[in-house]
Amino acid sequence: MKITLHVWRQKNGNSSGRMARYELPGVSEDMSFLEMLDVLNEGLIEKGEDPVAFEHDCREGICGSCGFMINGVAHGPMPATTVCQLHMRHFKDGDELYLEPWRAKAFPVVKDLMVDRGSLDRIISSGGFISVNTGSPQDANVILVPKQDSDLAMDAAACIGCGACVAACPNASASLFTGAKISHLGLLPQGQPERDRRALNMVRTMNLEEFGSCTNIGECEAVCPKRIPIEMIARMHRDYIKAAWTDRPASTGGGVG
Ligand code: SF4
Ligand code: FES
Repeated sequence: MKITLHVWRQKNGNSSGRMARYELPGVSEDMSFLEMLDVLNEGLIEKGEDPVAFEHDCREGICGSCGFMINGVAHGPMPATTVCQLHMRHFKDGDELYLEPWRAKAFPVVKDLMVDRGSLDRIISSGGFISVNTGSPQDANVILVPKQDSDLAMDAAACIGCGACVAACPNASASLFTGAKISHLGLLPQGQPERDRRALNMVRTMNLEEFGSCTNIGECEAVCPKRIPIEMIARMHRDYIKAAWTDRPASTGGGVG
């Protein structure tokens, strides 16, 4: 089949970008979307032109490095599917596709379809972990976890940090991502000692990184390739408010303890 691509081309973060048009005849419906871009790039390289930069690693839907807008939808038209798991059989002969990078102030464009998602890494490094300083690992069954909590924690831990939720949100909010990361540790017994500090630090870092606020629009949940439920945002807010309340100075009636 023949596919016409309109691809955002931008040399680097300091230059202005533009849409470039490419015609790709002979696209097989068995190709993945990224394989179709590989074919485009081989053709561009043969002609001595700059290939289109896009990010990818596992191509199995687990690493979170791929992702861009296809016809205005983060990760494209298939629900719960990363760009790397999207196949050309979902498109038809003659389709025109518009490919653009994630658009958010906190995700500066590196080149073409590739953005810098280091802001998400900085949210994680501000609290998305459990401190284990010493000792040998315990048997897995020493700390019992209710099945309902472990299931919900696993749902939250499915977040691959792709950033689609930010790109889809009109406010460029990272609340679904941050909520998932706060929740998957906050639901487990091992995550309790640092739960308050984690919520405070991760939400504050999210705000410092210039992500927008959540106004309950729900686009994040709609495009999330891992179906992270929007309730994770409510969990984040509950943890943050509780932690901020106990973190108030003692002179205002607050304080830890
Ligand atoms: S919440 Fe979903 S869309 Fe957002 S970063 Fe995680 S996996 Fe990607
Ligand atoms: S390349 Fe790893 S999730 Fe798409």
